Amino acid sequence: MKKFPTSSEFAAQANTNPEKYAQLYQQSIESDESNEAFWAKRAELVDWIKKPTKIKNINYDLDNFKIKWFEDGELNVSVNCLDRHLVDNPYKPAIIWEGDHPSLHKIISFKELHSEVCRLGNAMRKMGVGKGDRVVLYLPMVPEAVVSMLACARIGAVHTVVFGGFSAESLASRIVDSQAKLVITADEGVRGGRYSPLKTNVDRALDVDGTECIEKVIVVHRTGNSVPMSGRRDVWYHTVIDNSNEDCPPETMNAEDPLFLLYTSGSTGKPKGVVHTTGGYLTYALSTFRDVFDVKEDDVFWCTADVGWITGHSYVTYAPLANGTTTIVFEGVPQYPTWARIGQIIDKHDVSILYTAPTAIRAMMKEGDAYVRESNRESLRLLGTVGEPINPEAWDWYHNVVGEGRCPIVDTWWQTETGGILMAPLPNSVDMKPGAAMNPLYGIKPVIVDSDGVELEDAAAGNLIIKDGWPGQMRTIYGDHKRFLETYYTTYPGSYFTGDGAMRDEDGHLWITGRVDDVLNVSGHRIGTAEIESALVSHPAAAETAIVGMPHELKGQGICAYIILRNGEEDSERLRGELNRHVRAEIGPIANLDAIYIVDALPKTRSGKIMRRILRKLAAGEFDGLGDTSTLAEASVVDDLIKTVKSA
Ligand code: WTA
Repeated sequence: MKKFPTSSEFAAQANTNPEKYAQLYQQSIESDESNEAFWAKRAELVDWIKKPTKIKNINYDLDNFKIKWFEDGELNVSVNCLDRHLVDNPYKPAIIWEGDHPSLHKIISFKELHSEVCRLGNAMRKMGVGKGDRVVLYLPMVPEAVVSMLACARIGAVHTVVFGGFSAESLASRIVDSQAKLVITADEGVRGGRYSPLKTNVDRALDVDGTECIEKVIVVHRTGNSVPMSGRRDVWYHTVIDNSNEDCPPETMNAEDPLFLLYTSGSTGKPKGVVHTTGGYLTYALSTFRDVFDVKEDDVFWCTADVGWITGHSYVTYAPLANGTTTIVFEGVPQYPTWARIGQIIDKHDVSILYTAPTAIRAMMKEGDAYVRESNRESLRLLGTVGEPINPEAWDWYHNVVGEGRCPIVDTWWQTETGGILMAPLPNSVDMKPGAAMNPLYGIKPVIVDSDGVELEDAAAGNLIIKDGWPGQMRTIYGDHKRFLETYYTTYPGSYFTGDGAMRDEDGHLWITGRVDDVLNVSGHRIGTAEIESALVSHPAAAETAIVGMPHELKGQGICAYIILRNGEEDSERLRGELNRHVRAEIGPIANLDAIYIVDALPKTRSGKIMRRILRKLAAGEFDGLGDTSTLAEASVVDDLIKTVKSA
């Protein structure tokens, strides 16, 4: 197995080393007391209004379930991200915004950001939004997205960011579930030179029953193309900012008050609103940021994730700003105007740390080295990946071509639910192995178990659970605590079940092997098979369907649909196109169907359960070794399926 030591250039300036990591990790998990002491120390990175005296209070017994961190502490997250830097660093860039078109960029200092956040906070207060109220953000990657998140935090409102690529239907269902009072959106979004109708989508979403909770819509003027504004309800962002003053006293929040909801896909049903709280989340995001990214005072940090995902929450907005680090907000895409764009941005803004997804790396790699080599990337010091396993070829290319062999790669494993990174090879703590998340972060106790929950020691593969807790862990599913307990704390009683599989190698290093439930990971984005299935059957031509993942060169995983048509419907190119468009319109373009097989029947057990294992194999082009098919109600179904797939 190939191993890559840290370059001597990096090692010479690194914040840690193998001995330090081993020692602190051991200390952080050794006993309950040392674990609490570790987290108490980490909480000192945060500015508290009232310092917590209680650190951890966790009980995973279902009768007496609780998760509380720093429960008597009080703080305000926006103060941590803004006010506390104004004393020493008011003019340091907080945000460097790079627009979709290379001619557009904007630098916003901590002082300027503070001022705008306060103005928006006051404006929201004037609209009657306050502590505990939900606010939906449906925005492109513009500075106003970060401003809006922080303004909610300032007044104690709970934001729920909906990715701008989601459809009006998806937006509506999140508004209904969260019962928000306010939406902040833009006239349009711009990515890769293409415009998306955000305001129009909001208008359509607000026609849906159950969205009457929304009282106001604030609209950022991004492209200036005309959009309908409805008299009482809609107001322009710049107007409310101009009419507002910048003296906005921060709301005092308890550590356990919610900071945000973020909807993510599960293996069943509708997306669930993951709830993160104030004190624990901030402590965890901030401390993992320092550990994983070897952060220094003058770093320029670029996380390419959209703020619509958890990666954008933790590592575009909260962690860098709380740490006083300059964060890049990029509106565009890697291929616009050309595939040289990522390198150009690195050079233009002297980016020192780049954190992106394997799917983007694979796409750039496919276009050849020449684009990347148009830039010199001398400022780069460290690289990171997130969202899905990285294949060794892409790792090598990222390391050798993008990082010129001198930048370590942190392969970071975590989830929306975990709030921050749980596993990664901390820079200069270990020789890196391409494709492995390697080691737990401080205080984290990963365990591999078999399906009966028996712990597997030594080299082994199984399901990944986390024992004990950490401050950034989710607290509940919004409005559905029962589903929360059932999803995460009943499969392996007493531990958090991640839904991922993992493998420990001979050296004791950890590898994530992918989801073990019905959640797909398409281009690093989570999407539930159940969601796509229910979108598909809402089309009049589809009677029944089964969705599985399939290997995809660029996306990592693609979406494969097996569809039974209703009586009287004819298979045709046109109909398939229509079914695909229907799903994309219901969910969003990330739900593109990469393969569609029209079939007469699905392989089911006698009790009526679809045998997805078989469908996954066929989708991957594996026609032999389909495993035990003796429980199938009708064995001939499989032969018919093989014929259909082979002839497609
Ligand atoms: C997968 C994104 C392998 C995993 C932060 C997890 C990864 C899901 C990695 C969470 C990684 C994330 N290596 N797999 N480094 N990082 N995953 O909630 O299956 O969007 O459960 O959070 O992505 O996706 P989510």
